[in-house]
Amino acid sequence: MKLRVKELTFSYENKMILDHVDFAVRGGEFVSLLGPSGSGKSTILKLLTGVLPCEKGTVMVDGAPVKGLSPHFAYMPQNDLLFPWKTILDNVCLYGRIHGSLKAMRREARASFPEFGLAGYEDCYPSQLSGGMRQRAAFLRTALCKADILLLDEPFGALDVITRGEMQDWLLGIHRKMNRTVVLVTHDMDEAVYLSDRILILNQSPARITDEIEIKERARDREWLYGQGDLRRKIYSLIMAGAGEVRESGRNVGAQ
Ligand SMILES: Nc1ncnc2c1ncn2[C@@H]1O[C@H](COP(=O)(O)OP(=O)(O)OP(=O)(O)O)[C@@H](O)[C@H]1O
Ligand SMILES: [Mg+2]
Repeated sequence: MKLRVKELTFSYENKMILDHVDFAVRGGEFVSLLGPSGSGKSTILKLLTGVLPCEKGTVMVDGAPVKGLSPHFAYMPQNDLLFPWKTILDNVCLYGRIHGSLKAMRREARASFPEFGLAGYEDCYPSQLSGGMRQRAAFLRTALCKADILLLDEPFGALDVITRGEMQDWLLGIHRKMNRTVVLVTHDMDEAVYLSDRILILNQSPARITDEIEIKERARDREWLYGQGDLRRKIYSLIMAGAGEVRESGRNVGAQ
């Protein structure tokens, strides 16, 4: 296993957010964490990257425990922003000094611009790019990190539905080429079905992984996605069952 997360438990102040979250991801696998808003998806990624200190539980990469900030992870936070006063090239090389030589990274970044649909925009500023292009630039910044596991927190959350679809197609293609392990956080069911090898479903308050759905289809396109009504129905009912638990536990707490 590339990544193993064991019994991750976390509270903000006195509120328990994660309750023994357990999952594993194989090398090169694309796994989505799907759950309602506020269920703790971003918190899981922050604990993996070491942005938040791990209270209880273990994170292992290639069989070895990791603690704190780890070079294994490249993290694209929710609402990742580019600095408006820096050019796109400078923005995507922001972490160059952390992950090796800046000069080498600038060379590699320039070479990657066409693949990320950004050729010719190296010296532009973020305000000169479309929303989709800005997201691709933010994603290129993450992908340039010499990390074997990409942690993406709703990378397309801020985009309109058409650009979002284009970006999903693009990510699907680039993941096949990059062959890196990806953990994607989303609350978009279609996005999870379209992109993932496996979907992990979280319930809410405190979050646990309640279900796991493997998607074996390799030859995916939009037509295939539109035909996945049964799968969508199943995922929806699993998420609603988790939300039902919350309502149930809320009543119980209220009754005490
Ligand atoms: N800094 C903080 N202090 C206290 N509580 C927090 C803090 N950050 C998040 N929370 C709470 O932790 C819970 C989980 O938050 P988190 O951001 O991980 O959810 P999420 O699943 O990523 O939600 P969304 O889909 O809306 O991004 C929420 O109830 C939230 O209010
Ligand atoms: Mg979040």
